[in-house]
Amino acid sequence: MVAVINFGGQYAHLIARRIRELGVKSELFPPEISIQKITDLSPDAIIFSGSPFSVYDKKAPHINPKIYELQIPILGICYGQQLIAYQLNGSVSSHDSKQFGKENLKIGKSQLFEGLKKTETVWFSHGDQVDKIPLGFTIIASSKNAKVAGIQNPTSKIYGIQFHPEVTHTPSGRKILSNFLFTIANTKKDWDLKKQKDEIINSLSHKIKYHRVIMAISGGVDSLVAAALLKEAIGNNLHLVFIDTGLLRKNEVSEVQSIVKKVGFVNFKISNSSERFLSALKGVTDPEEKRQIIAKHYFAIFEEEAKRIKSVKYLAQGTIYPDRIESAQPTKHADKIKSHHNLTLPKGLELEIVEPLAEFYKDEVRKIGAILGINQQFLLRHPFPGPGLAIRILGEVTKERLSILREVDYVLISELRSAGLYDKVGQAFAALLPVKSVGVMGDARTYSYIVSLRSVDTQDFMTADWSKIPFSVLEKISSRIVNEVRGVNRVLYDITQKPPATIEYE
Ligand code: XMP
Repeated sequence: MVAVINFGGQYAHLIARRIRELGVKSELFPPEISIQKITDLSPDAIIFSGSPFSVYDKKAPHINPKIYELQIPILGICYGQQLIAYQLNGSVSSHDSKQFGKENLKIGKSQLFEGLKKTETVWFSHGDQVDKIPLGFTIIASSKNAKVAGIQNPTSKIYGIQFHPEVTHTPSGRKILSNFLFTIANTKKDWDLKKQKDEIINSLSHKIKYHRVIMAISGGVDSLVAAALLKEAIGNNLHLVFIDTGLLRKNEVSEVQSIVKKVGFVNFKISNSSERFLSALKGVTDPEEKRQIIAKHYFAIFEEEAKRIKSVKYLAQGTIYPDRIESAQPTKHADKIKSHHNLTLPKGLELEIVEPLAEFYKDEVRKIGAILGINQQFLLRHPFPGPGLAIRILGEVTKERLSILREVDYVLISELRSAGLYDKVGQAFAALLPVKSVGVMGDARTYSYIVSLRSVDTQDFMTADWSKIPFSVLEKISSRIVNEVRGVNRVLYDITQKPPATIEYE
C-alpha cells in the first residue's frame, strides 16, 4: 500500500489513481496523520502531494518530521519536494517567475529516472522553489526556470521532484512513478478490480442481506454501478428511487427506465418533482445557493420516499472515493471550489449509510460496471452533475431557459455521436448564458440568448483540456442550434482548460 499525504494540491487524487493504475493500492491521508498511524499502516511507500501553500505560510500544512526516520521510501511532488527540503534544513524561496506549463527537463542519474531520455517534457505548476538542498541530497534534474527540479538521497530513499509526474502533460510521468514504486520501494501489485468486486458483494451480502435498502439513482454511472452491486448482494431488498428534478437532459427519464429494465432491478419508482424544484429555485442566481436549495429538496423528497417504503434500514449511495475524501478531510488545506450535493445528508434521517463504491475512482467504477455486465454505452455516458442543468444555466433557472438548454444539449450530443466523437471526449455539454445579443434571421432582428458549448478531454475530471473538435463538426452543431432552437442566436465554443476553469460553469 502507498500512502499519499494530501497537502491540499489539486492533483493529490490523481497521484493516488495513477498508483492504482500501476496495480498498487493507494490511499490519501491528511498531513496531521500521526507517526503511530503510519507505523500501523506500514505503507511500502509514501508520496507527498502538492499544495496551494508555500512552506513558510503560517497555515501551511506540515508533517511530523519523524516521518523521515521511518526508513519508508518517500517521494515529494512539487510542494512535497519543497517540504522535504524545508524540514531537512534546506531552503525554499518564492520566485518572481512562476512556472505554469510544460518545460524541458534535463535529467541526471537516478533510479527514479531509469529508462528516460536525457531531456523530457514535464509539467510544472508552482510558485516556490528549492534554493538550497538538504545535507546528503543531490540534484537529479533541472530546467530553465527551476535549477532544483529533482533531488534525491538514495541512502534514506527520499526523493523529490518539482514537476508533476501524475498529469498527462508529463509523458514519462507514469514511468517515473513506476520506477519509484517498483525499483526504489519494492512495492507489490495488489489492486485487482475483479477481486475487489467479489469482495464488495460478499461483504454487502454478509452485512445487509436481510434488510431493506433504499437508494436514489441519478442516471449516472456511479449510482447505477453501486445499485448493480447491491442487487447482486441483496436482490429484491433493494428499492430504487429516481427523482425527476426537472433539471434533467432531454429523454433522461426514459433512458434511465430502459437501463433499469435491462439490469433487471425490481423495485423502482420515479418521483416527478419538477414543479417543486422550479419553484424553490425561483429568483435564485447564486451558484452555491442553487446547489444548497437543490440538495435540500432532493433529500427531503428522498426522505418522503424512504418513509413510504416501510422498514428501510439502509440508505445506499453511489459515493466514490474522491467525493468521500473531499468531504472528509482536505478542505482544511484545499480551497473549497464547489459543494457537491451528493453528500450533504439530511439531519435526522435515521438510516445507516452504505457506500459500495467508496474506495474507487471513476474509471475503476466503469471497469467494475463492465465486469458486472452493464452495457458499454451506458458506462461511457458522460458524467452529469447532481444539480443538473441548474448549474449550466448561469443566473436564474426558468422553464423557458431549461427547455432551450435541453434542446441545445440534445443537438450537441447527437452531433458528437454521429461524428464518432462522443466516446472520445470526456464530457460535453452546453451552458446557457443569461445575456442576450442581437442577431438577424431572415430579414428580422433577433435578440436572443448566447449558449456556450463545452467539451473536455480528461481522464479524471480533476484536470481537463478542451477538446479539439474539428471546425466542420462545430459548424454543423452551431448552425443546427441557431436554426432549430428558438431563443438562441449565438453559439460559442469554450476553449478553457481546467484548471484554471472548472468543467461545469457553476
Ligand atoms: P467541476 O465543475 O468541478 O466538475 O470541474 C468536475 C466533475 O464533477 C461533476 N460535478 C458534479 N457531479 N454533483 C455531481 O454529481 C455535483 O454537484 C457536481 N458538480 C460538478 C462535473 O460534471 C464534472 O464531471
